[in-house]
Amino acid sequence: MEGCQTAGMTADRDVDANRLAARSLAEGDPTGWFERLYAEAATGAAIVPWERDAPNPLLADWTARRGLDGTDKRALVVGCGYGVDAEHVASLGFRTTAFDISETAIRGARERFPASAVDYVVADLLDPPAEWAEQFDLVVESITVQSMPLGVRDRAITGVAQMVAPGGELLVIAGIHDGGEHADNPPWPLTREELESFAVGGLRLEHVERVAEAHRWRAVFRRA
Ligand SMILES: C[S@@+](CC[C@H](N)C(=O)[O-])C[C@H]1O[C@@H](n2cnc3c(N)ncnc32)[C@H](O)[C@@H]1O
Repeated sequence: MEGCQTAGMTADRDVDANRLAARSLAEGDPTGWFERLYAEAATGAAIVPWERDAPNPLLADWTARRGLDGTDKRALVVGCGYGVDAEHVASLGFRTTAFDISETAIRGARERFPASAVDYVVADLLDPPAEWAEQFDLVVESITVQSMPLGVRDRAITGVAQMVAPGGELLVIAGIHDGGEHADNPPWPLTREELESFAVGGLRLEHVERVAEAHRWRAVFRRA
């Protein structure tokens, strides 16, 4: 599960995620393991390897450099887990919605940030609420698409892209796949071509960086 890690985490942190993902995928269920992982973590029986105390540095650095002001704007954080990135986005003034497929993760986010202004919602990127289409001035997708099997990749990417409002932007942070065979288990990092396929349904690629030290893409897309 290396690609779900932030830099510096050890492989030991991935043991539980790998065990539960393998079982879920063998059952033909692309996403069921996330809830199982968070549920085990809630009892102390597992570790969520991507869990952090601080916002993703690739997000925080990007928002700081741009001096983002979210006043009177809406943001959506995809696959928010326990919410630390969503809280960062909300702190910039965005009216923020954050969603995750795992009920336990969403409960954990609400408990962790009881006074939060973020609207934490249980929802599935592969079947998102219709009313979210083209509603958000900023959409943040960090390593969620790559955590789902390749068979649902196009659907997941289209799901993310369709949330961006006219004039709005999408930030994508993803692991880098330079070609060759993909692993059997997650993550499945993105090739440059797959990354660029977020430019769908009226979005265009504005900027892409290869952040070598994090082994991540960081890309920005905008809807005209
Ligand atoms: C690899 S983790 C990344 C978490 C966070 N975005 C980050 O950058 O650290 C993927 C997250 O997306 C959630 N997730 C996976 N599939 C999803 C789906 N189909 N819809 C919504 N959330 C999903 C998982 O429960 C998990 O919290």
